Amino acid sequence: MRVIKARDYDDMSRKAANIISAQIIMKPDCVLGLATGSTPIGTYADLVERYQKGDLDFSSVTTVNLDEYKGLNRENEQSYYYFMHDNLFGKVNVDLKRTFLPDGMEPDAKKACEDYDRVIAATGGVDLQLLGLGHNGHIGFNEPAEIFEAETHCVDLTESTITANRRFFASEEEVPRQAYTMGIKTIMRARKILLVVSGEDKASIVKEAFYGAITPKVPASVLQLHNDVTIVADEAALSKVSL
Ligand code: F6R
Repeated sequence: MRVIKARDYDDMSRKAANIISAQIIMKPDCVLGLATGSTPIGTYADLVERYQKGDLDFSSVTTVNLDEYKGLNRENEQSYYYFMHDNLFGKVNVDLKRTFLPDGMEPDAKKACEDYDRVIAATGGVDLQLLGLGHNGHIGFNEPAEIFEAETHCVDLTESTITANRRFFASEEEVPRQAYTMGIKTIMRARKILLVVSGEDKASIVKEAFYGAITPKVPASVLQLHNDVTIVADEAALSKVSL
């Protein structure tokens, strides 16, 4: 596990974009595993800037996203599809036919998950997987549990997640109750993993996940077993560990 210390959020974003850019330059037809959430927004903005300057070409890149809400269509601003188009896909020259997310509008969870595992397998495997870190140690929507869930699966969102999401929707009924997420085994199969984390509010979970016991109760702790993980964290997120 390599830990790269960044000064602040902007520096973290630039350092993470450096690593993703290097991946695309060294292997133009690479498969990128992508994440949503607030942490990677600056990284995506930096990648867009590099593309606009002519330094980066996404035309042969394939992308697979970690997760998607069940029941939200692509036009819904809270869907991860919308997020990815808003922050990256709509702003670079990626071939949209090669951008994949779980199909949130597939009501049959078993089918949606099996289809997505087939999509990921057909890409030949993820070269570089970008991850954020949840306050409870989740990666993707793999929440603390008794076991590590292997493949893509349907997750019941916790009451606290539903409550936290309430502010983004017109009514409580519209808040998604479930999501589809890549499993831990799929994430661990990525050749390289890049985790970005920022802010003092993540300092405790950084310590627990990467310097504590490996347990499904802290899903990100499994990354300690991967042989090519880079964590790009700002000083605030690293404030509870000594490097
Ligand atoms: C999103 C995802 C989540 C987030 C995590 C951190 O695709 O996989 O695991 O990475 O919830 O979210 P932020 O970055 O908003 O703190």
